[in-house]
Amino acid sequence: MIIQKSANPRISNFDLENFSFGNTFIDHMFICEYEDGKWGEPKIMPYGPIGFSPAMMGVNYGQACFEGMKAYKDENDDVFLFRPEKNFSRINKSTSRLAMPEIPKDIFMEGLKTLIDLDRDWIPKGEGMSLYIRPVIFATEEVLKARISNKYMFAIVATPAKSYYAEPVSVKISDHYSRAANGGVGFAKAAGNYAASFYPTKLANEEGFEQVIWTDDIAHEYFEESGTMNVFVRINDTIYTPKTSDKILDGVTRDSFIKLAEKRGIEVVIGDVRVKDVVEAFDNGTLKEVWGVGTAVVTSVFKSLGYQDRLLTLPVLSDEESFALSLKKDLTDIQTNKAEDPFGWRFKVERKILEKA
Ligand SMILES: Cc1ncc(COP(=O)(O)O)c(C=O)c1O
Repeated sequence: MIIQKSANPRISNFDLENFSFGNTFIDHMFICEYEDGKWGEPKIMPYGPIGFSPAMMGVNYGQACFEGMKAYKDENDDVFLFRPEKNFSRINKSTSRLAMPEIPKDIFMEGLKTLIDLDRDWIPKGEGMSLYIRPVIFATEEVLKARISNKYMFAIVATPAKSYYAEPVSVKISDHYSRAANGGVGFAKAAGNYAASFYPTKLANEEGFEQVIWTDDIAHEYFEESGTMNVFVRINDTIYTPKTSDKILDGVTRDSFIKLAEKRGIEVVIGDVRVKDVVEAFDNGTLKEVWGVGTAVVTSVFKSLGYQDRLLTLPVLSDEESFALSLKKDLTDIQTNKAEDPFGWRFKVERKILEKA
C-alpha cells in the first residue's frame, strides 16, 4: 500500500470537544481503483477532492454503494472497530446486487486498519463520541451508456462523531411511500435508496415528524425500517423486529441488539410486525416502546407515532425501565471497552504506523 502522509495535518486546529458532525474529515483518505477487471495499488493520501467528469457513470446511473461504521477510543486511548467483518461482507452484498466488482477482504480491512491507525488522533473520546467511517464504492467510467461500468473507485473517508438524535423523536408510519420493494435493492446500502427516501422524509418533516417508519410497498401493513435504521417494537415485555429480507437492511446494530436482548433473557420475536397490531397494542395499553437502531445513533427512542390522522403518544420510561436504553448501554459499553465482550465483537486497531514513524 502506498502511504502519502499529509504535509499539513489539520488535527491540531480541530476542537474534538466541540464540533458539528459530518463536515470535517480526518487528514487522510484511502483509495483503490478498479479497471480492466482488476484492483490497482491501494493508497492512503491526504483527504481532498478528486476530479471527475459529470459523465461519470456513478452519478448518471447510480452504481454507488457504501458502508457506515465507527471506531471508538477507550480510556487508555486504545482504538476499536465494532464487528468490521459484518460491514465487509455487507458491502459486497451491495456491490453484487449493483453489478459492481467484489472488494477483496485484504483491500477493505488493511485500508481500514491503516487509515484509522494513522489518523487515530482524530477519534474523540468520551460518552457517545466516535469516529464515523464511510467506505464507499462508485462507478467512475466516463461513458453515457446505461450499462455496467468498467471502472470503479473504492474509498474510505471518516469524520468525528458524537451522538445525535439523543432526544426522543416523533415518527410517521408511512401509508403511502415505501423505501424498498420485493426483488429490489432495499437490503443493499445503495446510494439511490437514500435519494429516494429524502422526499417522503421531507413531507413527514413538514408535518412535524423527524422520521418515517417505512412500511411495505403492497398495502403498508407491515413495519420495515425507520428512517435509516432498523426498527424494534416492545409490547408488554416482548420485543418484535421485522425479519431481514431483500427489502430490509441487515443492520449490524439490529443483530447486536437481538443477541444482547436474548442475553438479558428478553423474548425477541423476529417476524412480521403489523401496523394494525402495534396500533391495537397502543389502544389496549400494552405498547411500551418503539425505537430505531443503527450505527450512527445506536438508538433513537420514539416519543410518538403518527398514523393516518392519529398521534400515538408512547409512555415515558426511565433509562432502567426502557429496553431500548438498557440495550443501548449494553452495546456502547462493549463498543467502548467498558464491559466484557462475550461475543468477540470488538476489533482492536493496533498501533503500527505510529511505531514506525
Ligand atoms: C436503511 C438502513 N437501515 C438500517 C441501518 C442500520 O444498519 P447498521 O446497524 O449496520 O448501521 C442503516 C445504516 O446505518 C441503514 O442505512
